[in-house]
Amino acid sequence: MSDFTSNFWSVFVTTLTLVAIVACALLLWMAGRRKVVAHADNTTGHLWDVDLAEMNNPLPRWWVWLFLMTLLFGLAYLAAFPGLGSFAGRLGWSMQGEYEAEMAKARANLEPLYARFASMTPEQVAADPQAHAMGERLFMNNCAQCHGSDARGSKGFPDLTDADWLHGGTPEKIRETLTQGRIGNMAPLAAAVGTPEDVRNLSHYVLSLSGSPHDSLRASLGKPKFVTCAACHGMDGKGNQALGAPNLTDDIWLHGWGEATIAEMINNGKVNQMPAQEHKLTEAQIGVLSAYVWGLSNKPGAAR
Ligand code: HEC
Ligand code: HEC
Repeated sequence: MSDFTSNFWSVFVTTLTLVAIVACALLLWMAGRRKVVAHADNTTGHLWDVDLAEMNNPLPRWWVWLFLMTLLFGLAYLAAFPGLGSFAGRLGWSMQGEYEAEMAKARANLEPLYARFASMTPEQVAADPQAHAMGERLFMNNCAQCHGSDARGSKGFPDLTDADWLHGGTPEKIRETLTQGRIGNMAPLAAAVGTPEDVRNLSHYVLSLSGSPHDSLRASLGKPKFVTCAACHGMDGKGNQALGAPNLTDDIWLHGWGEATIAEMINNGKVNQMPAQEHKLTEAQIGVLSAYVWGLSNKPGAAR
């Protein structure tokens, strides 16, 4: 309900609910009123099937009380819990709150399991079989939907096993990536590069950096335009991890390669986001997970 910009629906739902309850009470009251009966034998005078008479008995007491209690219960419930539009209820209960309380409890239960890894270096954690199993499970539940269950990624989602890093591959940098998230941001640069022809030539130059198939005449024409790109990708095109700018010389493509793809990158830019995990996972879980991810491209146990 809080997602709506006006409180129309809140008022609408509240009114509808309260009117329904009042209507129920009214119905009970009307049904309980004594009917005017003309006949002395307490029947309505109707006969069906020769001798089946309709009596005019009052509603059973127990039934009336039950009905009333249901109405009162409904009102008390709506006062205590969310139900009347955006009114949050006097008890302050929410689905979100219940979920968070349960998560906090589950985390507290897991805390001792993780305590063992707190004093270890990331390299030692990566080599520990129990930590590996826990890291793998955390990865499957929180990361595989984007990076793939084998962590090899897909278009737009980086491969985490190839030792090629956008933001840095030390255990500390990986931990930073997981904790705070990352935004890879390349601005649209066509205007700075020049004409569409310049963009095409520059694309061929970019392809030539990694020895990918390209037109070498176009590449040499495009080369001077690379100064626009050097600020982030470096003069040699080897990238800059502080900016998340990929190495363009290694033939590893996050967004695909080819003249059209690279021209599109220059024309439209790209914003790519790795979501921060600090509110989803505990510090201890992030520690185990960072070591696991580091271990995917580094032999566990090997000293750096
Ligand atoms: C919603 C999709 C999504 C989820 C979920 C996700 N990631 Fe990412 N991740 C990305 C994207 C997109 C990038 C690339 C960001 C960029 O382009 O700078 C990325 C980047 C990374 C990087 C940096 C790679 C590099 O080369 O520097 C690491 C490490 C990483 N993710 C690990 C994880 C782990 C571990 C998890 C599970 C907790 C996870 N990611 C969950 C989308 C996701
Ligand atoms: C403001 C810094 C910045 C500048 C300037 C910049 N880039 Fe980028 N570029 C990035 C970032 C950051 C990414 C990664 C986007 C992502 O995380 O998905 C990127 C990605 C790319 C990619 C995709 C690489 C892949 O692996 O798929 C190509 C190609 C590229 N840039 C080419 C260029 C060219 C050509 C220029 C010059 C016209 C240029 N960039 C200028 C920051 C920059």
